[in-house]
Amino acid sequence: MTRLNLDFVRSQFPPMRDAETRGWAFFENAGGSCAPDQVVDKLDHFFRRTKVQPYYPYGPSEQAGEAMDRSQELWARCLNVEPEEIQLGPSTTINEYVLAQALRAEMQAGDRVIVTEQDHEANIGAWARLADTGIDVRYWTVDPESGLLDVAALQSLLNERTRLVCFTHCSNVCATINPVREITELCHQAGARVVVDGVSYAPHAALDLRALGVDFYLFSLYKTYGPHIGLMYVRRDHLEHIQNQGHFFNAASLTKRLTPAGPDHGEIACASGVIDYFQVLYDHHQPDAPADSVADMAQQVFQWVGQHEQQLMEPLLDFLGGRSSVRVLGHPRPDRDIRVPTIAFTSERADNQAIAAAMADRQVGVGFGHFYAYRLMEAVGIDPASGVTRLSLVHYNTPEEVERAIQVLDPLV
Ligand SMILES: Cc1ncc(COP(=O)(O)O)c(C=O)c1O
Repeated sequence: MTRLNLDFVRSQFPPMRDAETRGWAFFENAGGSCAPDQVVDKLDHFFRRTKVQPYYPYGPSEQAGEAMDRSQELWARCLNVEPEEIQLGPSTTINEYVLAQALRAEMQAGDRVIVTEQDHEANIGAWARLADTGIDVRYWTVDPESGLLDVAALQSLLNERTRLVCFTHCSNVCATINPVREITELCHQAGARVVVDGVSYAPHAALDLRALGVDFYLFSLYKTYGPHIGLMYVRRDHLEHIQNQGHFFNAASLTKRLTPAGPDHGEIACASGVIDYFQVLYDHHQPDAPADSVADMAQQVFQWVGQHEQQLMEPLLDFLGGRSSVRVLGHPRPDRDIRVPTIAFTSERADNQAIAAAMADRQVGVGFGHFYAYRLMEAVGIDPASGVTRLSLVHYNTPEEVERAIQVLDPLV
């Protein structure tokens, strides 16, 4: 069985080679991931050679436009959608905000929108604000102990006036994977569309958005090894009818209707570097059997990634689960089909700041706080001001780094 070659993976990331940074364990994927050479080099090239207004008929301008189109095209193939269905905006938060403005125009006062207590505020606040204009906003609540959502509870919230259900593929704190297909089918049967936040899921698994059946799906490329932009998928039939949020004269352009801020050219141009990185991983591990498509290539790469990430989370979840003073949010089982390796916890014995400081002393970079999942903190009885400690592992982390983190935690928690 092929296993992820970790030395090869790490050789692709400048911070893991550079003498000044290579001692650090970066456990902040859900905050922001490191970027591989394929992304960094493209951004560098864009700024050095093609940093002009793109899409005009002269050399550097044409090349800039081609690089941007390539990103749109490759990401579409990777996600199994059409290039025009991909909107590249400044961030997921902004993309949500713009989407909420556009969809509000299709709703009447009294229509229902369901949001969850589990989400990052980006997929709550933009919708909750619609209550000011007469929309009936309801909360799909979490289990107050685990922070998990129960699909049965959604059923009782859906009614014939429900227009939208906004939920997360997996929370940036609980990290447990919600059954997107099942929830989407349920919502569609009730006549509602779905807005899915995939920010914490996308770095850990290949996505087939067509197969998931979703209407709107968003994630942030800067947590998925890329530049600081947000990718929003909007199903073509919705996109064609959605209220234009861009300049009036751009209304006919499907990729401009929901990106009023105007694109960051260099960051869009280097976004294809993420897919190039996946391809480099694929070619290294499977040199004699080219994949049939970009989507197939990504599916295979994420099989190897998933196996490795499962091995990373096992010892950490076992360790934390064995401590009576520790509370881990989300599903406790280290199973990649159930959760991603983002592990958030509190300890009765040590505060989050002290844990993060002790980790930093051993060159383990972790974050703490509410991570903008403010309502989730309140729902599970954790003061948002102190929040949780979060160790957000990802495929470029090593078993040695996890062991180091456990050694730090052992006397503290
Ligand atoms: C789960 C989740 N959703 C949405 C966001 C917002 O993304 P952005 O920073 O691109 O606005 C974040 C950012 O941390 C997140 O973790």
